[in-house]
Amino acid sequence: MDPLMAVLCLLPLYPASHCPNPGISVGAVRTGSRFGLGDKVRYRCSSNLVLTGSAERECQDDGVWSGTEAICRQPYSYDFPEDVAPALGTSFSHLLATTNPIQQKKKNLGRKIQIQRSGHLNLYLLLDASQSVSKDDFEIFKDSASRMVDRIFSFEIKVSVAIITFASKPKIIMSVLEDRSRDVTEVENSLRNINYKDHENGTGTNIYEALHAVYIMMNNQMNRPHMNPGAWQEIRHAIILLTDGKSNMGGSPKVAVDNIKEVLNINQKRKDYLDIYAIGVGSLHVDWKELNNLGSKKDGERHAFILKDVQALSQVFEHMLDVSQLTDPICGVGNMSANASAQERTPWHVTIKPKSQETCRGALISDQWVLTAAHCFRNAEDRTLWRVSVGDPNFQGSKEFQIEEAVISPGFNVFSKKSQGIPEFYGDDIALLKLTQKVKMSTHARPICLPCTVGANLALRKLPGSTCRDHEKELLNQVSIPAHFVALNGDKLNINLKTGSEWTNCVKVVLKDKTTFPNLTDVREVVTDQFLCSGTQGDDSPCKGESGGAVFLERRLRFFQVGLVSWGLYNPCGGSSKNSRKPAPHGKVPRDFHINLFRLQPWLRQHLEGILNFVPL
Ligand SMILES: *[C@@H]1O[C@H](CO)[C@@H](O)[C@H](O)[C@H]1NC(C)=O
Ligand SMILES: *[C@@H]1O[C@H](CO)[C@@H](O)[C@H](O)[C@H]1NC(C)=O
Ligand SMILES: *[C@@H]1O[C@H](CO)[C@@H](O)[C@H](O)[C@H]1NC(C)=O
Ligand SMILES: *[C@@H]1O[C@H](CO)[C@@H](O)[C@H](O)[C@H]1NC(C)=O
Ligand SMILES: [Mg+2]
Repeated sequence: MDPLMAVLCLLPLYPASHCPNPGISVGAVRTGSRFGLGDKVRYRCSSNLVLTGSAERECQDDGVWSGTEAICRQPYSYDFPEDVAPALGTSFSHLLATTNPIQQKKKNLGRKIQIQRSGHLNLYLLLDASQSVSKDDFEIFKDSASRMVDRIFSFEIKVSVAIITFASKPKIIMSVLEDRSRDVTEVENSLRNINYKDHENGTGTNIYEALHAVYIMMNNQMNRPHMNPGAWQEIRHAIILLTDGKSNMGGSPKVAVDNIKEVLNINQKRKDYLDIYAIGVGSLHVDWKELNNLGSKKDGERHAFILKDVQALSQVFEHMLDVSQLTDPICGVGNMSANASAQERTPWHVTIKPKSQETCRGALISDQWVLTAAHCFRNAEDRTLWRVSVGDPNFQGSKEFQIEEAVISPGFNVFSKKSQGIPEFYGDDIALLKLTQKVKMSTHARPICLPCTVGANLALRKLPGSTCRDHEKELLNQVSIPAHFVALNGDKLNINLKTGSEWTNCVKVVLKDKTTFPNLTDVREVVTDQFLCSGTQGDDSPCKGESGGAVFLERRLRFFQVGLVSWGLYNPCGGSSKNSRKPAPHGKVPRDFHINLFRLQPWLRQHLEGILNFVPL
């Protein structure tokens, strides 16, 4: 170690105060102005505002204040998901405010619900069915719990879900000790069948007993005959209490929380292993103070919220999940938060460019392969100059890769039908690029699910042994299917893919476009069944430069690429800026055609066998 550095690290910036000034938020009053080791500051709120966060904070030996910032708020006011989001992890501004170098070193970045392959997560859902929560609000709790369960299981991690409803007494609907607690269908069925009336004969609110039931469950799991102590220690526990916080019997819930902390051996080193969230959702009259007392209080984080509806809760839940540990190339995981960056929402999306000029888009389908359009390589120059840019173009997260191998479909020949009077033909417009290095997985770079692979089968939660045909039936299941592609500026735009009779209607417009195809009599000559069709009323149209990008859709909170952008009758960007699309002028009918990946299975299998595992056709 550099001795000079050691000396510098020991010199606090403010010798008199061990902790930085904890500040006073709007509407709060602070007592205590000494910031030395062991000093305490206390907060209260003026007038009829309610305090959330910690009423008392102590300066700890690591130079950090215990608890979380005290904020005063209106007694009945909702949180907005975008306000909650930064409070869930240690926010960036909080980091910048840290001036003490000793602190910075020990900074523990966010303790959210960790999504990772190793270890196991126990998720305990506690639903308040007491009288103060109306039946309608209870239904919102059920829906909210379902959404959270669906999202957690979408990561294919090892998770067990406990469901407990409570009023005067708790009722265990499902325990983490049961095998079915690891099966998403079972968990969702159980949630659906919960009855508010179960608690009709005891409508008080006993949060202590509900948490105590969790404590007993933990004990039982720990003391199971085959439970290995090492494995027990590796289980992470997240308790989500959906409640209005108005506990009126059973004594202080804090006692139960303390017991839980004890059985899980929660100490400074193990605080990542337990998170307790107290959430009010719906039109509740929440007891803020109680809700606040229930949630864990960790530095710079908040664990108590009141949200307007299920959508708001889904948004917040997205931010509660820490996917940074998810480093294997699990497919089709996009960030569903409205506040996530464009690249976080579509992390498979890449830009392909020769030298500095962008020409095409593509999609990561593994940690080293990109799927794109063959026509991007029409004017194949020196391929060593081509680059694939992966990750977020707006942040330092993006990285450029060289191409080790380009597999361009030999069937692609844009001029193959010239003699028939068809100036350009895009059949077999598909190509695969192998990058020279593997892409490091992150929230900005992750593959999309390719249908008919084992990865897609898992993501669709289909039984092993399902076929490619089954995937097609599930993904292209209607005559008009909402789907998306990514625009030049990163936005996710909307289209509707047509199949069956709608497909025929969609493609026949091509015959009317006499400027492009003056002599065409059979539309099938240019739009073969290799193409999906979009561009009917209300659809966005891809621009030049968006070719090769994925045409994808969402199922079960995961993303699947069913096509790739190939060609169209109208370019809405026509030379203007990246952000504006012009509607088609009168007389011009937009139509867009995308290579249908279900029709190119033989070619994909030929080149990706061994890279992806395919299910039978
Ligand atoms: C409530 O009490 C009534 C009368 O004793 C009984 O019939 C009913 O089954 C009870 N409800 C529940 C959910 O236990
Ligand atoms: C979504 O993005 C937000 C903001 O970057 C991040 O805090 C959160 O962990 C992400 N969630 C998922 C599931 O990727
Ligand atoms: C959410 O997005 C808005 C605007 O896009 C931005 O101002 C805000 O800082 C974002 N919040 C978080 C937590 O990223
Ligand atoms: C269309 O047909 C006309 C007349 O047969 C011919 O002169 C013209 O070259 C054809 N156009 C194309 C693009 O082949
Ligand atoms: Mg109640």
